[in-house]
Amino acid sequence: MDDVFELAAPEAQAIFLRDVLDGLSRAQRTLPCQYFYDAAGSDLFEQITELPEYYPTRTETAILRAHAEEIASALGQNVLMIEYGAGASTKTRILLDALEDMAGYVPIDVSEEFLLHTAQVLRTDYPALAVHPVVGDFMIRFGLPDDSQGQPVGFFPGSTIGNLSDSEIVQFMHAARDLLGQASQFIIGVDLSKDASILVPAYDDAAGVTAAFNLNLLARINRELGSDFDLSAFAHRAIWNDTASRIEMHLESLRPQTVTLGGRSITFEAGETIHTENSRKFTIDSLTPLFEQTGWTLNKTWLDEKHYFAVLLLSAI
Ligand code: SAH
Ligand code: AVI
Repeated sequence: MDDVFELAAPEAQAIFLRDVLDGLSRAQRTLPCQYFYDAAGSDLFEQITELPEYYPTRTETAILRAHAEEIASALGQNVLMIEYGAGASTKTRILLDALEDMAGYVPIDVSEEFLLHTAQVLRTDYPALAVHPVVGDFMIRFGLPDDSQGQPVGFFPGSTIGNLSDSEIVQFMHAARDLLGQASQFIIGVDLSKDASILVPAYDDAAGVTAAFNLNLLARINRELGSDFDLSAFAHRAIWNDTASRIEMHLESLRPQTVTLGGRSITFEAGETIHTENSRKFTIDSLTPLFEQTGWTLNKTWLDEKHYFAVLLLSAI
């Protein structure tokens, strides 16, 4: 495809190996959650979004549907929508259907195959829409594709913001402010604090799809880096950390074992975990200072009836 703006470095595999070795060398072993999303991981995430326990997708979708006209009129015409972590772009369609005279759509995602397939499907379903996919890490600064035009509007749904630390949010929002520019607006989906009895099953579903999503990280490392993780010797764990207001996903070693990776031997004790993801649950008040210090102001908040999830409209200051 010749109109893909490709950020992925040729040394992507070397960076992947470096990040994995770095994370697995720490006292609390960890792996960066962006590596969940190869083609298999993106497919598993889509299955998660349909689980009865996983309330965020259907709740945010319902908020966007209920307020699509109001959101569209706040965004105006000639919108160039830049979506961070676009995935299947399912929620985007609600906005694409509501917005008139859109100038273009720039989905950004690390999951290359999935992104390019999604872009192709969107071009078929919206023949008048200019789609400019960008493959890469949204934490790294980049420019808009040369042939994209229109008034930039950021879209960051799914509470993917909850997978970032405070310092990463500040870095991300600063970069987005610089990229989107002075008159821009930003729509962000945020998962809100709620009882652990709702949160834990959302990340430890009865069908085991989230477990498969978590374990796919080790399967991917085996596939791409030639390691020998025994997937049956690790178990998915979803833990509510009340102090940090986050769900933590871990992979627990079920026995003492040694894994070979990049010419190194990594030893795990029984019960030792690899921390694979944080999924933070916010109050809006806890986020507003991070927005204000990065050049954004909160203009409007839309909530569902149970106040499980919020869709925020920010504008550049
Ligand atoms: N926006 C969709 C998908 C959310 S899943 C929704 O709301 O349902 C998170 C998406 O972000 C995945 O598609 C994943 O591949 C992508 N992603 C995660 N970390 C990323 C990063 N650092 N840079 C770019 N994309 C990333
Ligand atoms: C993409 N992200 C916002 C999801 C979340 O809920 O934190 C990823 C996920 N992890 C487990 N289930 C879904």
